[in-house]
This record gives sequence, C-alpha cells and structure tokens, in this order.
Amino acid sequence: MSSIAIVGAGPGMGLAIARTFGSHGFDVALIARNRDKLNDLVGRLEAEGITAAAFPADVLDHDALTQALKDAATRFGGIDVLEYSPAGSLESTTLTAPSETNPSDVQWAMDFLLYGAIAATRAVLPAMREAGAGTLLYTNGAGSVSSPGNRTPSGRRRTAGTCVHRDGRPHPHSRARQGRRGHAR
Ligand SMILES: NC(=O)c1ccc[n+]([C@@H]2O[C@H](COP(=O)([O-])OP(=O)(O)OC[C@H]3O[C@@H](n4cnc5c(N)ncnc54)[C@H](OP(=O)(O)O)[C@@H]3O)[C@@H](O)[C@H]2O)c1
Repeated sequence: MSSIAIVGAGPGMGLAIARTFGSHGFDVALIARNRDKLNDLVGRLEAEGITAAAFPADVLDHDALTQALKDAATRFGGIDVLEYSPAGSLESTTLTAPSETNPSDVQWAMDFLLYGAIAATRAVLPAMREAGAGTLLYTNGAGSVSSPGNRTPSGRRRTAGTCVHRDGRPHPHSRARQGRRGHAR
C-alpha cells in the first residue's frame, strides 16, 4: 500500500489532495497543528473508505514536524509522497510592494513556507532515496500589494498570484477575484 503525508492539512487543498490520493488507494497521513480539526478530516476520509490518520505538528517546530513524519512512516510502512501546503492567514503575512520589502517582512513566510518545507523534505528524503522512489509536492500561493509605482516599463502590473489593496481588499485584477489565470511575471 502506498502512502501520502500532507503537511498543513486542512479542509481546502489538504482534504482535496487527501481525497484524490486516497481514492487511488493511498493511505493518508494528515499533519497540522489542531488535533481536533485533523480528527474531523480523518473521520470524513474514513467515511469515504480512505485510510487516514492524524499526526499533529507545527511546521515552525522542525523537531515536532520531523517526528510527526517519522510516526506517519512507521504507521504506514513509509511515506511515498510528501505534499507540503500549510496555509497562513493574511494577518500573519506582511504584504509589501516588491520595491519596499525588507528582509524582516518575508522572514515569517521563509520560516513557514521554505524552512518548514526543507525540514519536511529532510525527514522523508533519505528513505525515498534508499527505496529509489518517492515524490515531493509543494503547493503554495503568493501575494503582494498593489502599488501605483509597481509597474513594468510597458505599464503592466508587477505582481504574481493574489493581489490585494493595502487595506486587505482583493484587488479587482487579482487572480482569486477574477477566477482565471493571473498575469504572473
Ligand atoms: N484553496 C485554494 O483555493 C488555494 C488557491 C491557491 C493557493 N492555495 C495554496 O494552497 C495551500 C493550501 O491552502 P488551503 O487554504 O486550501 O489550505 P487547507 O488545506 O484548507 O488548510 C491548510 C492548513 O494549514 C494548517 N496550518 C496553518 N499553520 C500551520 C502550521 N504552523 N503548522 C502546521 N499546519 C499549519 C492549518 O491547520 P491548523 O490550524 O490546524 O494548523 C490549515 O487548516 C496554501 O499554500 C495556499 O496558499 C490554495
């Protein structure tokens, strides 16, 4: 039996990915901070005939994250697929125009999205290499604030992903609001 570990498992992408892999015969390890919410997801998946289990951990706590992935590997006889997609809140993100961004503005995002992903990868990669097989998936979104001066020489907006005004409202040109592919560059 194959297994997938979903790091940052919630009711959106996490559950959808769990369902997709679970319906193709994968066992599913769900990792996030809140045990009750994870148990709810486990119950929903098991009601659909998918084997799932919860391994609570915070991606900012690398030791706990590593242990959760080790526990998942022990439970399911290894991890064949690692999927990393924790979702932070807008409040936890400092949104700045690219030209106004300080290193401290992106520190949290680095810890959350990059260093956590590296820690998770290090926890599963040795066994994958030893087995000669394994898959690593990283699912993220991105955002920036809209700024009148933030345009290319041709006048096109320099943003990638979701775009919001400084007051937090989605920008009319944002990918999420338009429901179509944005103009990432
Ligand atoms: N859903 C979409 O339409 C969409 C679109 C574009 C991009 N994305 C990207 O896809 C990813 C998933 O987004 P989603 O909204 O669909 O998420 P989701 O799978 O519904 O839930 C993500 C989970 O991450 C967990 N989390 C937050 N902080 C954590 C931490 N410090 N350690 C461990 N887990 C943590 C939260 O659970 P706990 O509070 O229990 O920890 C949350 O339930 C994100 O990177 C997002 O930017 C999503």
